[in-house]
Amino acid sequence: PREIPASPTARRLARCLSIDDLERSARRRVPAAVWEYVAGGSESELSLHRNREAFEGVELRPTAFGQVAAPSTETTILGRPAAAPIVLAPTGYTRLSHHTGEAAAAAAAAAAGLPYTLSTYATTSIGDTARAGAGGRNWFQLYLMKDRAVSLEHLREARASGYETAMLTIDTTVTGLKRKDVANGFAIPPRLTARTFAGLARHPGWLANILSTEPLRFATFPEGSPYGRWGVSNTVREQSLRPADIAWLKEEWQGPVVVKGVLSVADAVAAVDAGADAVVLSNHGGRQLDRAPVPLELLPDVVRAVGDRAEVYVDSGVRSGGDVLAAVALGARAVLIGRPYLYGLMVGGQRGVDAALHILVSELVRAMSLLGAADVSEITGEHVRLRP
Ligand code: FNR
Repeated sequence: PREIPASPTARRLARCLSIDDLERSARRRVPAAVWEYVAGGSESELSLHRNREAFEGVELRPTAFGQVAAPSTETTILGRPAAAPIVLAPTGYTRLSHHTGEAAAAAAAAAAGLPYTLSTYATTSIGDTARAGAGGRNWFQLYLMKDRAVSLEHLREARASGYETAMLTIDTTVTGLKRKDVANGFAIPPRLTARTFAGLARHPGWLANILSTEPLRFATFPEGSPYGRWGVSNTVREQSLRPADIAWLKEEWQGPVVVKGVLSVADAVAAVDAGADAVVLSNHGGRQLDRAPVPLELLPDVVRAVGDRAEVYVDSGVRSGGDVLAAVALGARAVLIGRPYLYGLMVGGQRGVDAALHILVSELVRAMSLLGAADVSEITGEHVRLRP
């Protein structure tokens, strides 16, 4: 007989069979302003929607009589083992989704055997997140500051806390404008509007949890530092990144460097020439340049151009194991996921992230099995077709 899950959260999670289910449940669990900050896209949200259309347009083609009973999703990412070709993407202000925030996400990633990337705009410190994700693979995402001393301090702290990889994001030299965020007062600096206030009042549990824990701020900067304040980020970030900055990072970090936000073959080549070990094709989940290329559609050309010298990852719109399979078949070493794990976090803290990762991996296993790929290296371009 099926066990009856004990807590309301466990029952809620047990009912979620897909990331879309988690999304629907998550939407009811956080104030509207938080929901729109996480789920929304920039400007007209064209990129946000096109990202999904691209994944939905990929057909998976089984190999006749090739089914395998128990495929393995294990792979290596940057030369070290990962349980599946999935990396948790950096997300700013993760504690808005759930007060346990980055610590819960890092712990869930470690338990699932997947790398976790901490954002420069994290609301949990570099050290605390490392402790929560102990035993796992922690990566640090760098927003380069004009004052390089500040960025060097981030790298030093990440190194000291055992982070293995530095990921430089290059697509956020100015912050994309999300219209609903402005309407919600979710702007820079934040404003409390009547609408936001009403939204908060409808979620007293969420509010009480946030208020009972550390104040919300960019916790990767020292306490009291002006950099830690929401609202100064645009002007203090480096606003014209060049390949020389990648070479600088490679020199300073002395470890694997990933460049995130690449959206052309030329930039992928430039990043790898400058020393990047991997590039992430990303339009930031449709949150930065609207009408930017759809990362999935760039993938084959970029893999052809740099695939023999660097790993190529893709993100923006991955919502299922089938999407992961499609990306790998088109040449990606791994995908990054942002909102899928944040939705899990909103529904059930660390257990919710556990559930999101479990859903994606089990969908991937079923798809590989039916498709006839015994392990990740057997997933090839033969397995996909772009629907006309
Ligand atoms: C992000 N993303 C992001 N990227 C980054 O390099 N640094 C950051 O601080 C953030 N912050 C952030 C906050 C939130 C709420 C979201 C949803 C996303 C982008 C993120 O790393 C990733 O590229 C996208 O989330 C991928 O798209 P999906 O999986 O959300 O569709």
